[in-house]
Amino acid sequence: MTVVAVLSMKGGVGKSTVTLGLASAAWARDLTALVIDLDPQANTTMAIDVPDATFTTSDVLADARPGVAQDAITPSGWGSGVSVIATSPPAGIPRCDFAPRWPPRPGSSTSS
Ligand SMILES: Nc1ncnc2c1ncn2[C@@H]1O[C@H](COP(=O)(O)OP(=O)(O)O)[C@@H](O)[C@H]1O
Ligand SMILES: [Mg+2]
Repeated sequence: MTVVAVLSMKGGVGKSTVTLGLASAAWARDLTALVIDLDPQANTTMAIDVPDATFTTSDVLADARPGVAQDAITPSGWGSGVSVIATSPPAGIPRCDFAPRWPPRPGSSTSS
């Protein structure tokens, strides 16, 4: 298992972009990937298309019991290979459905 941490205290330096690029590279190669989003901005969580996250990274960090992180793993909208431990999007921020879906759904105008 390879663990990659993408972190910086500075905003706008490409953390979310790099994370999504790594996840999409894993997806394209049929590798299993788990994205753990610790950023309360939740850009990665929103882009990775999490339909319903019951538990978030905040819940995991607040509860030291074994198994809590496992319970927080949620399927992403990218398919069975990419899972996520989501963060909670700030209240009032709509999902970014205006962005092209990536990876594209087979047969969509953005798929090849
Ligand atoms: N390698 C890059 N080259 C040019 N622009 C980039 C690159 N990586 C990210 N960006 C752009 O920079 C902005 C900030 O990136 P983002 O991933 O949201 O940063 P962070 O998560 O660190 O706040 C976005 O508009 C993104 O598209
Ligand atoms: Mg970000």
